[in-house]
Amino acid sequence: MDIAHTPASPEGNPEMADAASQPKQPQLILRSDYKPFPWLLPDVSLDFKLSLEKTRVSSRLEVQRNPNAVPSPVLELNGDGITPLEVLIDGEVVNSWVLEDDKLLISLSGEAHAVEVVTEINPSTNSQLMGLYASNGMLCTQCEAEGFRRITFFPDRPDVLSTYSVRMSGDSVQFPVLLANGNCVASGRHQDGTHWAEWHDPWPKPSYLFALVAGDLVARKDQFTTMSGKNVELAIWVREGDLERTEHAMESLKRAMKWDEEAFGREYDLDLFNVVAVSDFNMGAMENKGLNIFNTKYVLAEPDTATDGDYDAIEGVIGHEYFHNWSGNRITCRDWFQLSLKEGFTVLRDQLFSQDMGSAPVKRIEDVRVLRSIQFPEDSGPLAHPIRPDSFREISNFYTSTIYNKGAEVIRMMRTMAGEERFRKGTDLYFDRHDGEAATCEDFVQSIEDGAGLDLTQFRLWYSQAGTPKVTVRQEQDGTTTRLHLTQSVPPTPGQMDKKPMPIPLALALFDRQTEEHRGEELIVLNEAEQSFEFSDYDAAPIISLNRGFSSPISIERNVPREDLVFLAARDDDPFARYEAMQDLVVSHLVSALRGVLSDADRADGQEAILKAFSAILEDSALDDLMRGELLILPSPAYLSEQLETSNPQAIHEERERLKAWLGTQCAGQFEALHQRASGGAYSRDAAARGLRKLKAQALIYLAAGCPEKAAKMAAAQYHSADNMTDRQSALIALAGLDVPEREEVLDAFYKRYQGDALAIDKWFSIQAQSLHPKAIEHVKALAKHPDFTLKNPNRVRSLYMAFAANPHAFHAADGEGYRMIADCILALDPINPQTAARFVPPLGRWRRIEPGRAALMRAELERIADAKQLSRDTFEQVSRSLG
Ligand code: ARG
Ligand code: ZN
Repeated sequence: MDIAHTPASPEGNPEMADAASQPKQPQLILRSDYKPFPWLLPDVSLDFKLSLEKTRVSSRLEVQRNPNAVPSPVLELNGDGITPLEVLIDGEVVNSWVLEDDKLLISLSGEAHAVEVVTEINPSTNSQLMGLYASNGMLCTQCEAEGFRRITFFPDRPDVLSTYSVRMSGDSVQFPVLLANGNCVASGRHQDGTHWAEWHDPWPKPSYLFALVAGDLVARKDQFTTMSGKNVELAIWVREGDLERTEHAMESLKRAMKWDEEAFGREYDLDLFNVVAVSDFNMGAMENKGLNIFNTKYVLAEPDTATDGDYDAIEGVIGHEYFHNWSGNRITCRDWFQLSLKEGFTVLRDQLFSQDMGSAPVKRIEDVRVLRSIQFPEDSGPLAHPIRPDSFREISNFYTSTIYNKGAEVIRMMRTMAGEERFRKGTDLYFDRHDGEAATCEDFVQSIEDGAGLDLTQFRLWYSQAGTPKVTVRQEQDGTTTRLHLTQSVPPTPGQMDKKPMPIPLALALFDRQTEEHRGEELIVLNEAEQSFEFSDYDAAPIISLNRGFSSPISIERNVPREDLVFLAARDDDPFARYEAMQDLVVSHLVSALRGVLSDADRADGQEAILKAFSAILEDSALDDLMRGELLILPSPAYLSEQLETSNPQAIHEERERLKAWLGTQCAGQFEALHQRASGGAYSRDAAARGLRKLKAQALIYLAAGCPEKAAKMAAAQYHSADNMTDRQSALIALAGLDVPEREEVLDAFYKRYQGDALAIDKWFSIQAQSLHPKAIEHVKALAKHPDFTLKNPNRVRSLYMAFAANPHAFHAADGEGYRMIADCILALDPINPQTAARFVPPLGRWRRIEPGRAALMRAELERIADAKQLSRDTFEQVSRSLG
C-alpha cells in the first residue's frame, strides 16, 4: 500500500478515531518473527503540558534509516487509545500518514528526518494504570511493557534505544514537583502560575523505561558515594504524611548500591536516583532509569504499620529495582520473549542481596516456598510456558512466576555449577560485552559459558522447555558401594509434548549411620534420562541428603524411611535440607492420608514421627528462632495439591488442618511456653527479636487449631499489648479464623486504629478473606460492599480477592460459590483494569487438577467469562489458554 496517496486525518475519517477503542482481535506474536526496526531513533524530545484531564504531548523523533535492517518507506509507530492531532516532517505539517488499527504509518522518503507528533491524553480516566495516569491528584507513568504507546506514537519495543530530553510544564500548586529520567537541566516559572522543568537522560534507553512524575510530594534525601568516588543524590518521594515511613527504604537503597558494587562490580551511573511511591499501581515497582516508581506497599514502613515480612519485601524490591539499572537498563531486552534475561537475573540478584543482608538459609527457604506454591502449579497447568516463551498475545500476562522465579533458579544453577568466582567472571563478561545493547537470553548464556568456562550446550534446554522436571531416586547398597540410580523426566506442557533430558545439578551429602557425619558436600550433574552414581567405602547404606540448598528446581520422588527423615530434620547441617526433610515427612504423611491408603496404625505412626521431629525443632537450643519458626511451617496447600494428579482442595485443607490441630494439642504446653518466652521483650528489628515474633505467630497458629479457646485469649492479649504490626497481624490472623467473641472485637479495634491508612486496611481485608473461618465466603461478600472497597485500586482488589482465591476452603466451596465470586470479580474489573483482572484467571485455570465435580464448576465460570462481549486481550488470552 502506498500510504502517501491515501492521506487521512481523524477528522476526515471518523471511523479511524473509533478504531482505537474497538476490541482488538488478539493476535499471536511469535518469537521467531523478530526483525530489527527499520529506523534508528537516536534522540527523542518530549514536551508535556500537564493537566489531570487533558495533557498535551508533543514528541520530536530524530529518525534515521537502520543500516542493519530491511529498509522500509514507512515509519510505523505504535499507539494505543490515542490519535494524532498533528504530524510534522522536518518542520512541515503533513497529511502523508494513516492510522491503521492502532498504528500510525508515516511515509518517509529520505535517509533521516525529524518527525513530530502531537497527542492529547486524559490521565484522570486512565483506570488501566498504563501510560500516564492520575493517582491521588498526582501524575505518574507506567510504561513497561507497552504503556508508552498510550502517551505518544512511538516504536514501542525494547530494542529501539534513544536518549530522551523531556520538558514539562504545569500548575505549580497542583504539581510542585516535576520529575523525569536522568538529570534536571533547567527549570523556571511562567507568569501565569505554571512552572516548567527540563530533564535529560544521557543513557540511551527503550521507551518502556521512560518515566514522568508530577505532584505534591516531599522527599527523604540522602547521598551515596560510589566506589569510584562519585556522589549520588538520593531521594524517596512520597505524600506529605508518609515521610517518616521512608527510612527503611532509604537504608535498603544504600545497602543495595553498596552490595552491587561488591557482589557484581556494578556502579551507579547518574548523579541522581529518585524513587517515587504511588498508591495506585498494577505491580510491585518499576525500574525506570533514574526514576523508579514504586507501589507504596514496597516503600512505606514503620513498626506500627509494617510487618517484619513487609520490611523484608521492601528491602528485596528496592534492591530488585536498583539492580535493574545494570541488568535491565544498561543491558536491556531485544524483545519481550527475552523478559527473563532481565527479570530472572535480577530476581537472582535481589535474592542473593537479601541472603547477604539477613539470614541466608531462611531467605533460601522462603524463596523455594514461593517457587513451589506459585511457580510449580503454573508449570503444571494450562498456562505453563518456558522461561523464554515462544509466543504470546498480551505480554502483560507473561510477568509470571516462571519468568521471574524459575528464571532466577535457572541462572542460580549455572552459578552452582560454576562456583561463585567463575560465575562472577561470566557476569562480568556479560556486562562488558553487552553494555548499551538490547540483548537476548542466548547472549547471557554465551557470556556465562565463555566467562565461567562451562559447557552449557545441553543446559540451554532450560530456556526452551517448560514443566518441572521430576527426578526419581533409588538407592542401592552393594557391599561397601552405594549406588544412586536416578531417572529424570520433564512432563508434557501445552504445545510441548516431548521433552529431552536436561542437566540437573544435585548437591548431596552422604551421612554415615555410625558417626552421623558426612564426608563433605558433592555436586553431581544428572544429564541423562537414566544415570547411576557410585559412592564407595560405606559399610552400611548412608542416609542421603539430596538437592541440598535446592540446587535444582525440580520435584523428587524417593522413598526415604521415616527415621531417616526424622534424622535429617534434626541433624542435617544444610539448613535447607533440614527444612526439606521436615517438609517431606509431612508431605508424605498427608499425601498418603489423602490417597486413602493410611490405616489407623499408619496414621498414628506418621503423626508420631512428625511429632518427634517437631519436638526436636522446638527443643533444639542450637537453632536460631527465625530458622526454628521457618521449620515449623507446614507445606502449603498449593504444594500439597501438586503431589496429587487430581485433588479435592477442601479435603487437602481439612487433612492439613487436622494435623495442625493434632500437633497443637500434642505440643500445647511447648507452644504456650514458647509464646511466653517470645513475649514481652522490647521491639527491635534485630534477628533475635524478629525470630521471637515469628515464634509467637507459629505458636498461635498451632494453638488456634488445637486449643481454640486458649488461643483466642492469648491472641487477644497479644493484640492489645502489641507495639508493632507483626504482633498485631499474627494475633488477628489467629482470631479471624475462630468463631469466638474476641474475633469481632479485635477486627473492629484494628479497623478503627488504622482507618484511612490504605496499606493497613489492605491487611484488614486480606486477613478476613484468607481466614480459616467457616463463613469466610459471607465475610468476603460483605467486605466487597464495604465503603472502603473499590475495584479502582489494585492493592485493594488484590487484598480482598487474591487473598480469597488463595483460601482453599472458601474459594473451593463445593457449590461453586467461590468460583462464581472470582469470575464476577474478573468480569467487573476487566473493563477497568484488564491487566489486573487477568491475574485472577489462573486460580480458575487449575480445573484440570481438581476433582471432577469442582472442575466442571470452574470450567463453567471460565466459559461464562469467555462468552462476555468486549473482553480485554489480557483476560481473553488467559481464559482461552485455561480452557484450551
Ligand atoms: N519490570 C518491573 C519489575 O520487575 C515490572 C513491571 C511490570 N509491568 C507490567 N505492566 N506488567 O520490577
Ligand atoms: Zn524486575
